[in-house]
Amino acid sequence: MAPLGVCIVGAGEYTVGYVPTAHGAASDKPAGVVALSCFELRRQGLVGRIVLCDMYGSRMREVRATIRRKIADVYDGLDTSLECFPEDHVEQEPTAYLRALDSMAPGDAAIIFVPDHLHAPIAIAAAQRRLHVLVAKPAVQTLDEHARLLEAVAKAGVLACVEFHKRWDPMYSDARNRAAQLGPFSHFAAHMTQPKQQLDTFKAWAGLRSDISYYLNSHHIDLHCWMVGPNSRPERVVAMAATGVAERKLGRPCEDTISLMVQWRNVDGSLGTALYTASWVAAKGDCHTQQGFLYMGQGGELRVDQAHRGYSGATDEGGYASYNPLYMRYTPDANGRFAGQGGYGFVSIARFLDAASRLNHGSVGLEQLRREGELAMLVDSLRVTAILHAGRLSLDSGAPVRILYDGTADPSGSWTSVGAAGKGAGSPPSGWASAIALQVEGCGGAGPGGNADGATAVSGDGNNAAAGGGGAAGADAPAGFAN
Ligand SMILES: NC(=O)c1ccc[n+]([C@@H]2O[C@H](COP(=O)([O-])OP(=O)(O)OC[C@H]3O[C@@H](n4cnc5c(N)ncnc54)[C@H](O)[C@@H]3O)[C@@H](O)[C@H]2O)c1
Repeated sequence: MAPLGVCIVGAGEYTVGYVPTAHGAASDKPAGVVALSCFELRRQGLVGRIVLCDMYGSRMREVRATIRRKIADVYDGLDTSLECFPEDHVEQEPTAYLRALDSMAPGDAAIIFVPDHLHAPIAIAAAQRRLHVLVAKPAVQTLDEHARLLEAVAKAGVLACVEFHKRWDPMYSDARNRAAQLGPFSHFAAHMTQPKQQLDTFKAWAGLRSDISYYLNSHHIDLHCWMVGPNSRPERVVAMAATGVAERKLGRPCEDTISLMVQWRNVDGSLGTALYTASWVAAKGDCHTQQGFLYMGQGGELRVDQAHRGYSGATDEGGYASYNPLYMRYTPDANGRFAGQGGYGFVSIARFLDAASRLNHGSVGLEQLRREGELAMLVDSLRVTAILHAGRLSLDSGAPVRILYDGTADPSGSWTSVGAAGKGAGSPPSGWASAIALQVEGCGGAGPGGNADGATAVSGDGNNAAAGGGGAAGADAPAGFAN
């Protein structure tokens, strides 16, 4: 098979481990994830040309020096050459990604790690050039963006996935399969917290263009949706936030911690609840991210502590630490080679690029990949976007937000419920778990979209109305941002 060209958009923490702050890149990804994985996949023959694009040409020299220091000088046998956009003499060019994408061939891949509000336009531009697209979580910020990106992807016939790497964590993927044996969904609770230094890393957009819920809750919302499959759907979201630290640090409104309380419904009519909590004001601890979840089915439960894998150490410099080489294993092997091919950070990139390559060669089809259900395909991620978008609207309006579905689907229909992951005799009617719009409760008359029952609708088709209360925006920008 001909090697795949890859265009990486965003030259920051996740792609190359470049963070121009006093703290630098987070301790769990000091050399980044995407470029290192692509270099290793080039060594394996899957990847060929690698293009790296940012908006700052003036930073590219430093970025390449970072790659040399953290990757080329550390691992034997990796070709770390890449082509950069924009050119070094260009101070900034926010649309350089268009030139970079134009330089790729149809069937190549684009891997997008830029601030959340730019995911949709850049992913759409990539799909329009018939590139397979892997976009950082959260895929997009609104249902409207999700619909527009899906349209571009369907038109181009390319693969579009969200980089939810937790799906490749061996405990998380095992839990996903076990959940199928625990009966209908009952309760899910997840937490994910990172230290305050993350607010420095993300000061360009934190609280301005995105929030901590989009940034971290997205992970476990995807995991939860993946575990329950199409047999459950989120229907109502209430969000609350803690404030104080981020506002003092950044000098502008910005939540410290966001909790989303979500009412779920199973296809048999029974109800479930979920609580997703994310924070970027944690104290420095034994690991960069404290994280884990509790899943309760009606017949049993599962717990994973993703921060503590039974492996710890201590150094004079850093003190006590919990290690998680299951994610990214940076320590070279005894021969000086990269040895992290089994880590779920690496696997997530590798599986996407492998699927893109197989699609190009006709050995697999998009529908087959969708049926296999391992990749987080954009077409199946609507519920994740709906919950995150509803959470933002709830924070800004102070009201609960309903997630609306195609009214023709009846949750108490005649087919049988089969437990958590959709295995067994029956399956839900098509569209039952496919969110189409959001409705802010109790905002009657406040915005142009106020409707008869006193709620404000935010549809997935671009006909969005502003909510009242905190001045929520329509679906082209999440409420509270970008106004
Ligand atoms: N850092 C993580 O641990 C992590 C993990 C998973 C997903 N993500 C997601 O990655 C995305 C951000 O990437 P990051 O974490 O590396 O952050 P980052 O701030 O370190 O890097 C983002 C990069 O995007 C660049 N950029 C901004 N506007 C651009 C434009 N118009 N064109 C090209 N580049 C542009 C910035 O200059 C910066 O170099 C977010 O969506 C985040 O949710 C981050």
